[in-house]
Amino acid sequence: MAMIMKVTPFIPNLQKRQPQNLNFPNKHSSKLICCSLNSSDHVVSQKLAQHFNPNIPIEKAVTPPSSWYTHPSFFHLELDRVFYRGWQAVVCRDDSGNVRAFHNVCRHHASIIASGSGQKSCFVCPYHGWTYGLNGNFVKATRISGMRDFNGNDFGLIPIKVATWGPFVLLNLEKENLSQKEVDSHNLAKEWLGSCSEILSTNGVDSSLSYVCRREYTIQCNWKVFCDNYLDGGYHVPYAHKGLASGLNLDSYSTTLFERVSIQSCEGSSRKSTENNDRLGRKAIYAFIYPNFMINRYGPWMDTNLVLPLGPNKCQVIFDYYLEPSLQVDKDFIEKSLQDSEKVQIEDIVLCEGVQKGLQSPAYSVGRYAPKVEQAMHHFHRLLYENLTT
Ligand code: FES
Ligand SMILES: [Fe+2]
Repeated sequence: MAMIMKVTPFIPNLQKRQPQNLNFPNKHSSKLICCSLNSSDHVVSQKLAQHFNPNIPIEKAVTPPSSWYTHPSFFHLELDRVFYRGWQAVVCRDDSGNVRAFHNVCRHHASIIASGSGQKSCFVCPYHGWTYGLNGNFVKATRISGMRDFNGNDFGLIPIKVATWGPFVLLNLEKENLSQKEVDSHNLAKEWLGSCSEILSTNGVDSSLSYVCRREYTIQCNWKVFCDNYLDGGYHVPYAHKGLASGLNLDSYSTTLFERVSIQSCEGSSRKSTENNDRLGRKAIYAFIYPNFMINRYGPWMDTNLVLPLGPNKCQVIFDYYLEPSLQVDKDFIEKSLQDSEKVQIEDIVLCEGVQKGLQSPAYSVGRYAPKVEQAMHHFHRLLYENLTT
């Protein structure tokens, strides 16, 4: 799958964090964008979008149909409407400094310029060596003597709008033409997080934590299955995560809905002997930022989950872990916490892959919401509907 972008740190110590390649199909070279869908595909996917009624109250509502989770045309509509618009979290940073993002496409013959992560002083295309600065400017190319009407100034890498909030870096593919000044952090917070940005800040989602590590999981399920699983208000926790459940007071689970964010929160268990007590602390908050980014803050930890759609039946979830700096030296605690967290992820992956299989069954079309616990999921589906139909 083509890579679409690379976030490039300007300063060397950002190298500690990995520049993130998003593996979405490439907006500018792929056949998958909406305008290049053939018109019957477009009609089909638009019709499928109408198979959910966002106005029915949760007590009576049915979930979106299984086709939202399995149909290739619908997936392509989502890429166009959901992922190529609005802010996308792409990579986190651990220090101050400028970040830049570019479409990962050479201006010569469209080769992918960079892959993976690394530290460079410039971008050299692996195909014929055209070279670009970290600011995207065209720097040099060999063997172009004789080329006429060519001005290197017009052949820089194509920039992508980039902004930061707290430790996070965000891209917006629809705002390429705005000047950087037009995205100040206040506007960004408003656009990305709406009225809950202060709540997140005051609950410890900020840049004071130290980065620990990244874990990536490729899961055989639609990206929304992972989100839905996250958004069920802890419904599945006592059944599927018995270890985790012992560290939480599940009766305290609550959900608050904001414009494009939902926050689920839960207190830690008061029982002293639970295996997760130190890791989970007294309170956990789980913030879902539409469409595909989750911030989990619990005890001394924060982790973020970025869900990348790779196909109708496949996604990748990237976990980044942060910790209060005073605990960075406690290697045993870190290792044990990461193991406990990994156990939960594996349990979720089994659930999600099972659901994807079920969604493909002719026996299933739509489901129902448990109204007292699955409000955040219903909120997600309503936002998605609005996004896909307007
Ligand atoms: S495609 Fe990049 S140098 Fe030719
Ligand atoms: Fe789970």
